[in-house]
Amino acid sequence: MPEPSGYEYFKDCSAVKEQRTEAEQKRDEEKAWSSGDWFGKRTWLLLFFGLVVLSTFFAILSLIIVSVKVSGMYSEMKELQDKLMLQDSQFKGNVPEEGQRNQMAGELSKLKTLVFEELQKTQGNMTDLNSKLKLEMFEELQKTQSNMTDLNSKLKLEMFEELQKTQSNMTDLNSKLKLEMFEELQKTQSNMTDLNSKLKLEMFEELQKTQSNMTDLNSKLKLEMSAELQKMQGNMTNMISKLKLGNCTCSECPSGWIWFNLHCYYFTTNSGSWHFAKGQCNAMDSHLVVINSAAEQSFIKREGAPERYWIGLSDSETEKMWQWADGSDYRSTPKFWARGEPNNAGNGEDCAHIDKNGYWNDNGCDTRFRWICEKSLA
Ligand code: BGC
Ligand code: CA
Repeated sequence: MPEPSGYEYFKDCSAVKEQRTEAEQKRDEEKAWSSGDWFGKRTWLLLFFGLVVLSTFFAILSLIIVSVKVSGMYSEMKELQDKLMLQDSQFKGNVPEEGQRNQMAGELSKLKTLVFEELQKTQGNMTDLNSKLKLEMFEELQKTQSNMTDLNSKLKLEMFEELQKTQSNMTDLNSKLKLEMFEELQKTQSNMTDLNSKLKLEMFEELQKTQSNMTDLNSKLKLEMSAELQKMQGNMTNMISKLKLGNCTCSECPSGWIWFNLHCYYFTTNSGSWHFAKGQCNAMDSHLVVINSAAEQSFIKREGAPERYWIGLSDSETEKMWQWADGSDYRSTPKFWARGEPNNAGNGEDCAHIDKNGYWNDNGCDTRFRWICEKSLA
């Protein structure tokens, strides 16, 4: 008994299904009638049925496609098998004999020769082609080389020109720079010269100041040294005199008196007229100072400065006839009048005194001055 086709099977199944569905539908409808929800259940039923129909349709379609394909493949296989079978039978039935084989070998060797000749020709052509190619390449290379040489020459020329330009620019720049540097140097030199002149001037002024200060200092020093030397000289003279006296009965100056060259001197601190002073000195066993030498003048000047002191000199007896208090000859002693003195100024000036500057002046005898008494130790 032949097997039912897929369609028939499906037909049977759907018939069964239809029968079952109708029965169920009737039952459902009854139920729906009885339950009162007939419309909703029918819709669901229709949807379900539609789905089933669609699925069945697609299943049948797939089955048809598969069967068509399988039958195609089967026929191809069959054809292949037939061919193979035919070939096999041909091969088995047509085994060449020795004569045929020799003929075939001869043909084969001819074929080989032909192929070899063809190959040789091809090789020859290839060689020619290669040579041509080489030649062309060589020519091309030569051209390229020539172009490169030209290009190189051009480049060299351009570079040379550029270098020349640059060199020229550099030369200009160098010249400018040199000029600027020279100008700057000249300026600097001028500034330095000015500075040098200023410095020289300042140094010269400073030197002059220093020199002047040194001169002043030197003068002061000289003066101080001279005074000191005079003092020392006086002291030395006194000491020598003392020593020369040897066994003579000499005594020291009384207290408050100053010793100089074997004489004692008293410088008062009180003042009085010339005549009062003279009396005071006589009362102290002395006389108003008589200046007999430059050394004594220096001593008096040094010790008395800067006060004024009466000395033992007057022209009260006869105008301009100056006389020393101890009778010494005025004409033979050195004079130390101040400039323009004696001038007998005012109502007349007959008594002499040491002025502030250490030199002599004539003044009114009643003027009150300090005085200096002197007495000899010899
Ligand atoms: C004069 C002196 C004078 C004195 C009198 C001074 O100005 O120069 O010569 O003896 O005055 O005080
Ligand atoms: Ca005078």
